[in-house]
Amino acid sequence: MPPKVVTTHTALRAELGGASPGFVATMGGLHEGHASLIRRSAAENATTVVSIFVNPTQFSNPWDLAVYPRQLEADLDIAGAAGADMVYAPDRDEIYPSGFASSIDPGPLARSWEGGARPGHFQAVATVVAILLNSVLPKRAYFGEKDFQQLLVIRRMAKDLRIPVEIVGCPTVRDADGLALSSRNARLSPAERARARAIPKALFRMREMVEQGIDSSIETLSEVLPMLPPSKDFHVDYFAMVDPVELEPVVQAVPGTRAIVAVEVGSTRLIDNIELVPMNTESR
Ligand code: PAF
Repeated sequence: MPPKVVTTHTALRAELGGASPGFVATMGGLHEGHASLIRRSAAENATTVVSIFVNPTQFSNPWDLAVYPRQLEADLDIAGAAGADMVYAPDRDEIYPSGFASSIDPGPLARSWEGGARPGHFQAVATVVAILLNSVLPKRAYFGEKDFQQLLVIRRMAKDLRIPVEIVGCPTVRDADGLALSSRNARLSPAERARARAIPKALFRMREMVEQGIDSSIETLSEVLPMLPPSKDFHVDYFAMVDPVELEPVVQAVPGTRAIVAVEVGSTRLIDNIELVPMNTESR
């Protein structure tokens, strides 16, 4: 059944009544990665709400915002097929009415890595996600580990502001060639796409080295960085071994340690990450 579409906070609240749904926040351009989040929510909750809102404040580059995919009809088909009951598709004025002035600063986690490359980005993400959570009032909200720093920022914000929601992190979905699914992949030329495959290869190689007992960041990075040689249209912004809570660089991989990477491929910024050593279930 196609999901019911609502565009205002008032209509959303009226439709939901007292229900505490599962929630998947998106900016549209839905792909299999989003579908996996919606399926998980539909499996774990009686009702699933998906939001579609291209949040202008989180884009530092106007071109990035201009070319962001807008495909509401296709998105509704994908959301419905994955099990969404309702799509909340507000316009800009509904989220940021005249006089809107508040913003959330999620602290140091918002300033490193992607936060360093895109100042203000995570403040904007935390603010819009708080607004959406306060409108949908979900029991659980599902976010992909593909945007691992975003997941941590949202968890921090929800915890600090005592928003009564469980933030559920879900595994990255990859194409057959290993590339993590992202709405941005559609912008890559065939040549760029071919080069981008080296990103997951380098991450997987790093994990393989750690599994073989070579677990220092220096040794692993000195082998995998040459797999991503720089050129005019391919530039590694960062590649690091980090702890999974504060994303501070670490010298040796332990349970939970992640490798994070960002690469500018032509005019497209790609990010990816991988857990290098499984987290001990007791320490989760
Ligand atoms: O990951 C995204 O699509 C966005 O950053 C989010 C969480 C929907 C906030 O606009």
